[in-house]
Amino acid sequence: MQGTKRRFLIAGNWKMNKTLKETEEFFDMFMSFKKDFGVDVLFCVPFTDLKTALEKTKDSKIKIAAQNCHFEEKGAFTGEISANMLKELGCRYVLLGHSERRQYFNETDLTVNLRLKAALKEGLKAIVCVGETLEQRKDNITDEVIAIQIKTALKDVSKAEIDGVVIAYEPIWAIGTGENATKEQAEDVCKKIRKEIEKLYDSEVAQKTLILYGGSMKPANCEELLKEEDIDGGLIGGASLKSEEFLKIVDVAEKIR
Ligand code: 13P
Repeated sequence: MQGTKRRFLIAGNWKMNKTLKETEEFFDMFMSFKKDFGVDVLFCVPFTDLKTALEKTKDSKIKIAAQNCHFEEKGAFTGEISANMLKELGCRYVLLGHSERRQYFNETDLTVNLRLKAALKEGLKAIVCVGETLEQRKDNITDEVIAIQIKTALKDVSKAEIDGVVIAYEPIWAIGTGENATKEQAEDVCKKIRKEIEKLYDSEVAQKTLILYGGSMKPANCEELLKEEDIDGGLIGGASLKSEEFLKIVDVAEKIR
C-alpha cells in the first residue's frame, strides 16, 4: 500500500502470561496452523519462556523477544537480566520502555535510553515503546510528550544503530481497555514520530523505520489501523495470547502489505 517498502511487523506481547507448559502448547498449536508468513511475526515472552520459545520456533520465521533488559552488563542488580544474557541465549530482540515498565517499575525516558544503548551494543534489535496518558491527551500535550520520549530514547543512538530499532506507539489509555485509538489518532501520532526521526536522522532513516501501533488491537479493528500509511504493524497484548486471534491479525496484515 502507498508504495511503501516497509514490511509489516506483527508482534505479540504476552506480558506476564504463560507458563513453560502453556508456551509449548501455544507454539505447537500456532505452528500447526502456520509456519511461514508474508509479514514478520514476533512474540515478546516472559524471561522464563525464552529458551523454550526459541527452541519451539527454530524451524520457523517467528522471532522471539524478551520484554526488557537492564543497562548494566552485570553486577548487583537483583532481578534484572542483561542484554548479554539474552544474546547468549540466542534471543535477538528485546522490548523496551513499555508503559507498564514505566508505570509500575519506575522506568523513565533516561533509563529506556540506557537500556536501548546496552541492547544495541550487544547487537540486539529493540522495540521501543512510547505513548501518552489520557490526561496528557486531554491536556493537548500528546505531541510534546511523544517528541520528548523519542528524542530521549534515541539520544546518542547512531544512524547505523537505528537500523535495529522499531518504535511502538502505545497510547496508555488504549492498553488493555478494549478502547483502541481511532485510525486517525493512531496515524497522526505515528506520522509525527516519523517526522521526529527525520529531524534526528534524515528522511531515508525515517522512511525505513518501522512504527507499530499498540493498544487494544484485535481482529475486529486491525484492518483499518494497518491500512494507515505510517502504521507498519501492531504490538498486540490480549489478542496475542490465543493463536486463532493473533493469526487473524497476521492474515489481515498479509493481505494489506
Ligand atoms: P492490549 O493489546 O492488551 O491492549 O495491550 C497492548 C500492549 O500493551 C502491547 O504491548
